[in-house]
Amino acid sequence: MSDDLFSVAGQVVIVSGGSRGIGRALAEGFSMRGAQVVITGRESATIEGAAREMKSSGNPVVQIVCDVASLDDIARLVETVVGRFGRIDTLVNVAGVNKRKKVETFTPEEFDFILNVNLRGLFFLSQAAGKQMIAQKSGTVINIDSLNTNSPLKGVLPYAVSKAGVSMMTRGMAAEWGEHGVRVNAIAPGFILTDMTNKLWSIPTMQQWGYANTPLKRLGQVGDLVGTAIYLASKASAFMTGQVLYVDGGMSAGTLWPIEL
Ligand code: NAI
Repeated sequence: MSDDLFSVAGQVVIVSGGSRGIGRALAEGFSMRGAQVVITGRESATIEGAAREMKSSGNPVVQIVCDVASLDDIARLVETVVGRFGRIDTLVNVAGVNKRKKVETFTPEEFDFILNVNLRGLFFLSQAAGKQMIAQKSGTVINIDSLNTNSPLKGVLPYAVSKAGVSMMTRGMAAEWGEHGVRVNAIAPGFILTDMTNKLWSIPTMQQWGYANTPLKRLGQVGDLVGTAIYLASKASAFMTGQVLYVDGGMSAGTLWPIEL
């Protein structure tokens, strides 16, 4: 049965950071449900390779180079997408970077690098796509947030600051753009196995800690986020905006005892 409530078929969807990890899974998830997907990334060879692989697995996407830290790239991306497809229905802000270090060792360059991609880039890409959505009186922005939204994990403070900012942007843009028919929501993933996190989760102590503190007793896979993104992009969530949905195996639900009851 095909359910129009959850349909994204025919939507024009931009996924920033769509070449690998979470972004790629979301791009494939939208493409296989009939959306016209545009993936973006910093390097043309990387996104071309990713687009080729997705096409050969039956999920075609278009690739456009866009470093979200560059305002020129953002302007060119939005202009190209609107010129080619006439509109933007959904923007999925996935592009993100992280560094794990002690607070007292972060350099200004490292701090700026993280904030420029995760926060400034997300703001200005949303602004550029949002102008188009406001003009067309419809659209959805989906931000990829983090468990760091509410409580910082030790050792990633600039990242945590950027993700807390993402939840503020989610609510702030939702508040301003609702009257234009534009919805803005976020997904806060728990611990998902990707290139960004594989090394950390290969440490046995980390694995034990992760399983012990996750009610669903496993780490996340990129595919675990697809359903929520489709929901947020579709009519199924038509009366929902400014929300952060946690997809984290229950990690944020409560604190688990380290002993058997
Ligand atoms: P990843 O490192 O595999 O993917 C990040 C993507 O962003 C890559 O495609 C990369 O090329 C792209 N990117 C980085 N800088 C960019 C820039 N300046 N312009 C355009 N694209 C850029 O990481 P992963 O795990 O897939 O993370 C994706 C998003 O999910 C990030 O925003 C991350 O903070 C967030 N997240 C990840 C979690 C996890 O456990 N893996 C948990 C919570 C949030």
